[in-house]
Amino acid sequence: MDRRSFLALAGGGAAGLALPVGVSTLAKSAGNASAEATPPALRIQTARYRLRDAVTDNMVSVFPDAPPPVLRMRQGEPFAIDVTNTLDEATTVHWHGLRVPNEMDGVPYLTQFPIQKGETWRYAYTPKDAGVYWYHPHCRTMEQIARGLTGIIVVAETEEPGFDGETVLNLRDFRIGKDDQFMQLYSARAAARAGTFGTVMTANWEQNPVYEHPAGSLVRLRLGATDTTRFYPLTFEGGEGRIIGADGHPLREELPWPTTEEPILVAPGQRLDVALRMPDRHGEEIAVTYRSLQRTRKLATLRATGPSLGRSLDELKPLPPNDVPDFDPKGLEVVEMVFGWSPDGLKPNNGFCGSFGYTFWSIDRKPWPGDAAKGIAPVAELELGKAYVLRLRNSSPNRHPIHLHGQVFRPLRSNKRVLPSNWTDTVVLDKEETIDIGFVADNPGDWAFHCHVIEHQKSGLAGFIRVS
Ligand code: C2O
Ligand code: CU
Ligand code: CU
Repeated sequence: MDRRSFLALAGGGAAGLALPVGVSTLAKSAGNASAEATPPALRIQTARYRLRDAVTDNMVSVFPDAPPPVLRMRQGEPFAIDVTNTLDEATTVHWHGLRVPNEMDGVPYLTQFPIQKGETWRYAYTPKDAGVYWYHPHCRTMEQIARGLTGIIVVAETEEPGFDGETVLNLRDFRIGKDDQFMQLYSARAAARAGTFGTVMTANWEQNPVYEHPAGSLVRLRLGATDTTRFYPLTFEGGEGRIIGADGHPLREELPWPTTEEPILVAPGQRLDVALRMPDRHGEEIAVTYRSLQRTRKLATLRATGPSLGRSLDELKPLPPNDVPDFDPKGLEVVEMVFGWSPDGLKPNNGFCGSFGYTFWSIDRKPWPGDAAKGIAPVAELELGKAYVLRLRNSSPNRHPIHLHGQVFRPLRSNKRVLPSNWTDTVVLDKEETIDIGFVADNPGDWAFHCHVIEHQKSGLAGFIRVS
């Protein structure tokens, strides 16, 4: 038995804290995957996998022959994991969206030293918020993320809302050539624009994988866009459903059900939690579909099997909100910042372990200060416990998914569109757009703040915010 089928059997049982991605947890009543299990270790290593026609070498995962697993945690229960680096280059692990203590945040030089080859680093924290999050390295981010090292985190609520099953999707591309091997992962030309795109679109490292669920059942679809570059306009075609959470958090304001005319946009770093009702007839399908003007692609399929369970979406209990401190936006101090070009251009910039050799982007005309970040001023200094408005202005013609570590915020207004004020950690700044976000700075430390288009991040569009 290989590791994947072993884990599939163990999934839901006591050893099932790390499930292979995408496993339908119909059998999850077999046990509860909670803190009774010893957390697995993550052994970061090179991997090989058949993404398309032939095996692709030089991938990065935590197994030799499988994608990084879904990490399952439970809200309010301690979680700990040992990360061992067996790569020839340094790494760290960051827990995107989780409000962890600063020293657990995984940002090289800002919160910890990089984990060098042969070293093990223990991360331990208690997830405060239920929802969908993800993990990825924060060192050599272009190389390691583009080659595969991204995984989804599911933090379960203390009370289940009443689904019959679940499918978890890690959406991302791989940039491989005709020979199925990696091509050049980035370029100066693309870094100065929208970034470099992959050639194969995958869900859980597969092209249009199929997951079966009982006809007429209620399925919780949890997905994350973990690609270095791609924004996903998504639809869920063939079934009824509701968006119930975004970027980890239950919605404060409703999001419309996506249609082929108006898909929902999920940017690099963002996640969705979707309630689906499977069709009533055996063999009917719901297609998770990428729909842009240029192309339509089925990313994953949920197929109904057997006689209908006849469930209704109205039977689901609403998700309890996470305990995020709210604020009154009136009269708050406003801190302004500008995202745009860098004055440094062709000077190398040592961003998050290693440089591309150029610096096109900046916050307030100051690009990421490099591996000596501690010696450089933060882009903002906030008082612990106080609420703020950050006014984020994009002075460039490109879109930037701007991500703040360690806290969650909500958009308050945009100069271009109506934005629902839902809790998030990653907000898309459209070209020339200005967005106000608000939050209570309640997590002390130095928190990275950057664009999640990795070529932008790596070529300067990053800084940090100090909360003390
Ligand atoms: Cu998804 Cu700085 O992280
Ligand atoms: Cu993050
Ligand atoms: Cu950007």
